[in-house]
Amino acid sequence: MVSMVNASPLSDPSIVPDPYPVYAELSETNPVHWCEGLDAWAVVRYDDCAKALKNPSLKADRMEEVLQAKFDGRAVQTDNIYYQFTKNVMMYTDPPVHDSLRRSTAPGFTGAAHKFYSDVIEKIAAELVASIPEGQTEIDAVSELALKMPYHSSVHAFGVPEEDLDFVVPRVDKLMTYWSGPQDQPINFDALLEDLTDLHTYSVELVEGKRGKVLPDTVIARLAAAAPTNTDSTLQQTIHQLVLLLIALYAPTTPGSLSSGMKAFAENPEQVELFRSSQAAADNVANEVVRFNASNQFTWRLADSELEIGGVTIDKGQCVALFLGAANRDPRMFERPDEFDLARPNSNKTLSFGIGVHSCLGRQIASLQLKWFYTALFNRYSKISLAGEPVWNTNLEFRSLKSLPLSLR
Ligand code: HEM
Repeated sequence: MVSMVNASPLSDPSIVPDPYPVYAELSETNPVHWCEGLDAWAVVRYDDCAKALKNPSLKADRMEEVLQAKFDGRAVQTDNIYYQFTKNVMMYTDPPVHDSLRRSTAPGFTGAAHKFYSDVIEKIAAELVASIPEGQTEIDAVSELALKMPYHSSVHAFGVPEEDLDFVVPRVDKLMTYWSGPQDQPINFDALLEDLTDLHTYSVELVEGKRGKVLPDTVIARLAAAAPTNTDSTLQQTIHQLVLLLIALYAPTTPGSLSSGMKAFAENPEQVELFRSSQAAADNVANEVVRFNASNQFTWRLADSELEIGGVTIDKGQCVALFLGAANRDPRMFERPDEFDLARPNSNKTLSFGIGVHSCLGRQIASLQLKWFYTALFNRYSKISLAGEPVWNTNLEFRSLKSLPLSLR
């Protein structure tokens, strides 16, 4: 454990704007090392991350460990909302419970459903880009475009009533500041419990028809229609999955990918031309954008027995942080990994949506948002360039831009 001697740079917020040189160096010298700041083993190579995500001894059920690391000494009773939520959602459970919870949401994610979502999202993206006033040549692409896209999709493809956005979005924003891993916590635990309770109460009322109107054919409408015949989850569990979906919907992942992609295009104008001239390149845009910058840079697992990753022994009870964002730049997997290239033949091997049983349920919907957004943008503008310094948020786990000044022509 050579790495115990040198502090791992991976918990240092100053690397967030450009973590890639740090990853490249670690990938050569220290691909599996203990990161004190994360209280976990950091894993940066593609093969090691992919194998770990498929290893049944590395558990997604990690609530107690994360809670201890974030809120020292805090424990929760089994009837606590945090306990109930994490023990009953697909993201934090393992097979076989995970599989039935995931199956219970399948009616919202069929092929026919995605065809409907694709048409709706295409229209929303065109309207969003058309809303930029004629003659406006500079914008903050985060606040004016990237953040708005998931709001509109959430209403028209997911079915969240528009009038409820002001209630739901701020609560998800706060939850996301301390989601998933041990990092400095700006918010206390009781505030987390309040927001989580609010989202549950909201979801119950939504399903009971006591909130705004859910648009037909949307994800929520499909899940509600299937609920009476659903044998894979209890009503209470269905509500937990709905809360998970709301969180995933307004998480920084989708806007983070939309805006990091705009930055990549602004810095690589030839890729805009390639997008506009080649259908194959346009079809590859979501995968290459998320490969180039993962908006969820790392995810967590917990070892339930002693095991080995890349020749390093992980003890039972230790956490691992799997650096998807580093794996995406692993030269063993991707040639010229630091180039943004829509003609790349294997962008779809990106780990940005995870892999294995927990691979992203929203991958297709997120990909549709990315594809239709850039289509609308480059239908209207043939040149985008930076109009100032991009500013990154300080969170590496959910890495996203805070502002992106762009000029549009
Ligand atoms: C670009 C946007 C997105 C990115 C980069 C992303 C990334 C990810 C990743 C990396 C995982 C796996 C985490 C792990 O294995 O620990 C995941 C899981 C998940 N994502 Fe996404 N996601 C995105 C958008 C969405 C959206 C819009 C939804 C809403 C439906 C969603 C719903 C989920 C769910 C429910 C899971 C858990 C699946 C399971 O545990 O079986 N995601 N996502």
